[in-house]
Amino acid sequence: MCKLLEIKSLTVRYDGEGDVIKNINMDVGYKEIIGIVGESGSGKTTLIRTIINLLAPSSEVVSGDIIFEDKNIRKYNKEAWRKLRNNEIAMIFQNPGAYLNPIIKIGKQFVESIRNHRDISKAEAIIQAKAILEKMHLDDSDRIMNAYPFQLSGGMKQRVAIAMALAMKPKLILADEPTSALDVKTQAQIVNELISLRNNFDTSIIIVTHNIGVAAYMSDRIIVMNQGEIVENDTKKEVITQPKMEYTKQLLAAIPELKGF
Ligand SMILES: Nc1ncnc2c1ncn2[C@@H]1O[C@H](COP(=O)(O)OP(=O)(O)O)[C@@H](O)[C@H]1O
Ligand SMILES: [Mg+2]
Repeated sequence: MCKLLEIKSLTVRYDGEGDVIKNINMDVGYKEIIGIVGESGSGKTTLIRTIINLLAPSSEVVSGDIIFEDKNIRKYNKEAWRKLRNNEIAMIFQNPGAYLNPIIKIGKQFVESIRNHRDISKAEAIIQAKAILEKMHLDDSDRIMNAYPFQLSGGMKQRVAIAMALAMKPKLILADEPTSALDVKTQAQIVNELISLRNNFDTSIIIVTHNIGVAAYMSDRIIVMNQGEIVENDTKKEVITQPKMEYTKQLLAAIPELKGF
């Protein structure tokens, strides 16, 4: 077994839109970070959401298989998916507010999330939650645990969200534009924290970003998508120094200055 995830001939469509993911083949190795770039509407979010089976009801997987650790997860039932999402594959969204409950303190949400997938006492869960928050450089973990989401900055909320994902020790993290809503300095910090996740916990990461600079900084391999297809899939060095497609050259030319990196 050398690949963590394999996607084979995947085609996905939305009602009235036609195929927005077209015959995609890709794989993710253990401990590998893959950056997916491409302009808005190229199908990046659809691809990520298909992997974790969180597509809109108006969508249909027309064909293809998704193999995670040698198991065809496309054939999983609801219960198997729940387990997979709780234990093996985590997703981080652009806006962490989307999954933090605004009226419940962070600590309570975090402890509930840990106890949902691990049979431990509340006291133990609190200790674990605080330790993970500190790993994410949220040093005053007592204050964070006692805060409501609105009392934290965007960067802090995203760190909390990553900490909550991390608590389940996933093998794969899917991150859809996790830093786009943050200022440049915080963006760089979060990116560095994702890299250290891989280095310390062997987590594989697929990160979708519209910023090819971020992808170049943190990925081992870069995939470029255009109109639902993979037009480039190679080591970062190859893609940056010898892009095959005119489209990739344009993305590279438009690279924003990498302030903060
Ligand atoms: N829920 C949906 N219903 C119908 N069409 C959608 C839906 N979500 C995305 N699309 C369409 O699918 C295409 C790919 O979108 P998306 O995966 O969000 O791209 P990206 O993340 O690269 O911006 C776009 O043309 C978009 O309009
Ligand atoms: Mg998107």
